[in-house]
Amino acid sequence: MLSKSIEEALNRQIKIEGDSSQVYLAMASWAEVQGFEGISTFMFAQSEEERMHMLKLVKYINQRGGQAKISSIVEPVLDLSSYKVLFKQLLEHEIKVSESINDLVGIALDERDYATHNFLQWYVAEQIEEEANARYILDKINLIGDDKGGLYLFDNEMKNFTSPVTTAK
Ligand code: FEO
Repeated sequence: MLSKSIEEALNRQIKIEGDSSQVYLAMASWAEVQGFEGISTFMFAQSEEERMHMLKLVKYINQRGGQAKISSIVEPVLDLSSYKVLFKQLLEHEIKVSESINDLVGIALDERDYATHNFLQWYVAEQIEEEANARYILDKINLIGDDKGGLYLFDNEMKNFTSPVTTAK
């Protein structure tokens, strides 16, 4: 059985994952309209992943005797001035998500809820991967600079992005 404070903390994370899904959906839509086929494919997939992260929390809370809370959708506030700015925001966003996962792990330990602590390890590993992916992509973007050919190749690569990090899924 989850304590009330853990249930509330996990419910806050449901909202963060749901909001993340919306953020990447907005990015995907922007990239699609701009003609960045690869970037939009990546962002649509990223949005789906975040939804999966959210659903995993919903199931866990309900299985442990809590009640998952589904909140309203918030319109993402984004700077859509360039594809580079897009990926910078992706990294910043993921760093914030990592911080909230860390806070959650701290709460689980404080309350000696080892089941929740164990459940959260999947998210800890996932955040390492997501941050590493964003940094890897930003390094590539910095290499491209203003080279249009490089951008074309980059967008093409993003259609089948494979993470440089391998974590257990
Ligand atoms: Fe579910 Fe990208 O954090």
